[in-house]
Amino acid sequence: MAKIVWIVGASSGIGRALALEMARDGWTVAASARRGEQLDELAAEGPDGAIKSYPVDATDESACAETAAAIEEQVGPIACAVFAAGTHIPQPLDDFKVEDFRKLLDINVGGVVNGIAAVLPGFKERKAGHLVVVSSVAGYRGLPQASGYGATKAALINLTESLKFDLDHIGVKTQVVCPGFVRTPLTDKNPFPMPFLMEVEDAAQAMYRGMKSSAFEVTFPKRFAYILKALGLLPDWLYFKLVHKGTGL
Ligand SMILES: NC(=O)c1ccc[n+]([C@@H]2O[C@H](COP(=O)([O-])OP(=O)(O)OC[C@H]3O[C@@H](n4cnc5c(N)ncnc54)[C@H](OP(=O)(O)O)[C@@H]3O)[C@@H](O)[C@H]2O)c1
Repeated sequence: MAKIVWIVGASSGIGRALALEMARDGWTVAASARRGEQLDELAAEGPDGAIKSYPVDATDESACAETAAAIEEQVGPIACAVFAAGTHIPQPLDDFKVEDFRKLLDINVGGVVNGIAAVLPGFKERKAGHLVVVSSVAGYRGLPQASGYGATKAALINLTESLKFDLDHIGVKTQVVCPGFVRTPLTDKNPFPMPFLMEVEDAAQAMYRGMKSSAFEVTFPKRFAYILKALGLLPDWLYFKLVHKGTGL
């Protein structure tokens, strides 16, 4: 099958770096996000004609379906779909807003669901495909001031696990990506020191390596992910005590 990947969330950060990484490895990349100008700049930076801009708002169900259909018609069958669009809004107790939760759910979960619904018909028809959902290590267990973001990322891990059962039967490879801290516009807003912070090019390389493996979960930097996984296995009282202490929150 032709190497055509649809990356949603490609105008900056991890999605953008992954688009360049995959384009340099021979993939034709259909790059989506809301900001068309950034997508055009990305297309110009990639190898000749390898990256094509398909602006879309991931929260718009029909626009996602139309975009996937346009890619299939104009570029070819989507072999791999990477859903990396996401945003982060911290939830300190004195700024606990329902509208922020709605926004996080709409973009981080709704946007991914809209994308999956858009590629599923093609995957089912061809009995082939590769689905990649970008979650986060923040989805493993609750973390301070991240009740909205963490909840959306936990939802994505569970959603992807659930889907894998069905997609296994039709030959679709399913993976969830759980990055630790990666330097992007999203984390540039964080006022706290970020342990094991990774540069975005290194993250994209690690992600692409993981996508080529048979692992269900792709995570990087590995050491940070393993620390959080180990913390997650602790009894609740010890987990809360250590995270309070470690974050000072
Ligand atoms: N950086 C980290 O440390 C880290 C760690 C764990 C997980 N992650 C996850 O990795 C993914 C990428 O994050 P990043 O760090 O690369 O952040 P980023 O640089 O802010 O990129 C976010 C991407 O999502 C797109 N996006 C946001 N809302 C959208 C919408 N409604 N429709 C379409 N596209 C939308 C943005 O494009 P437009 O604004 O142009 O629409 C942008 O391309 C996110 O899911 C994030 O939660 C990041």
